[in-house]
Amino acid sequence: MVEFKQVHSLFVGEVSGIDLRDPVDAETQAALVSALDTYGMLVFHDQKIDDEQQMAFSARFGPLGQTAIVKRKGYTPRLNPHFTDISNLDENSEVLALNDRRRMMALGNRLWHTDHAFRPIPSKYSLLFAHAVPSEGGETEFADMRAAYDALPDARKAQVADKVAMHSLMYSREVIGFTDFAPEEHAAFPPAPHPLVRTHSGSGRKSLYLAAYASEIRDMPVPDGRILLRDLTEHATQRQFVYTHNWRVGDLLMWDNRSLMHRAGDYDMTQRRDLRRLTVMQEISTMDEARVA
Ligand code: OGA
Ligand code: MN
Repeated sequence: MVEFKQVHSLFVGEVSGIDLRDPVDAETQAALVSALDTYGMLVFHDQKIDDEQQMAFSARFGPLGQTAIVKRKGYTPRLNPHFTDISNLDENSEVLALNDRRRMMALGNRLWHTDHAFRPIPSKYSLLFAHAVPSEGGETEFADMRAAYDALPDARKAQVADKVAMHSLMYSREVIGFTDFAPEEHAAFPPAPHPLVRTHSGSGRKSLYLAAYASEIRDMPVPDGRILLRDLTEHATQRQFVYTHNWRVGDLLMWDNRSLMHRAGDYDMTQRRDLRRLTVMQEISTMDEARVA
């Protein structure tokens, strides 16, 4: 029987009694969704799944997303295009060179973000599985955006209510000085609007919806919007809202992007780190979601 144990504040649940190689029945699936609504993230240890099994499990929760990496001449993806390759490896499973464009693009994950927030319909869940981890470092940090919202002073809550932020993939890379994008990449990822405060349909809780992609607040001068986004991000990533996951091979993390923000940690990039992520997309855009709420 599937069981849950709280391992950090209120937002990380450790799951036991489940082998992700096996098909998941409707009752277990409902229990996992309900646990995710409450916690925000579930940790499954000691799993032995291959890519197909990770896909089969993930697809139980909704439509799978596609990697955002636009194909470039000379690059062959290492994984099926449903996967986002969260590794430092090339298609031959060799460690990427320091100046490799793919490595620098992936460095954007070191900034606090929510997955696919640069799309009008972002991802609901992310499922990240560890095949290889470095001997130290390379942890992933998660911040609870519901607790961060709850802790805002009332004046701040009033200020952020009904605000819309524009999220741009290119902006998040420009921030770290990476600007090597082709015109078709810019065209493929125009900025996407999202409410700054979202209400979770499962729990009814409000959360701040932030990410390194957020570059402007609609109807505010750009500098004012960026300062507000910075202030909110600093507030939301204070230690009391953060859980740090130290990876072991065989860990699968499943989190709700509506509730949490995350970022990758530093590690020795000459060592292999092979994590593979799938996303389950929302059915409707965040703007439509806000209209029907
Ligand atoms: C991701 C991600 C962070 C990491 O999988 O979406 O941002 O620690 N990962 O690699
Ligand atoms: Mn991510």
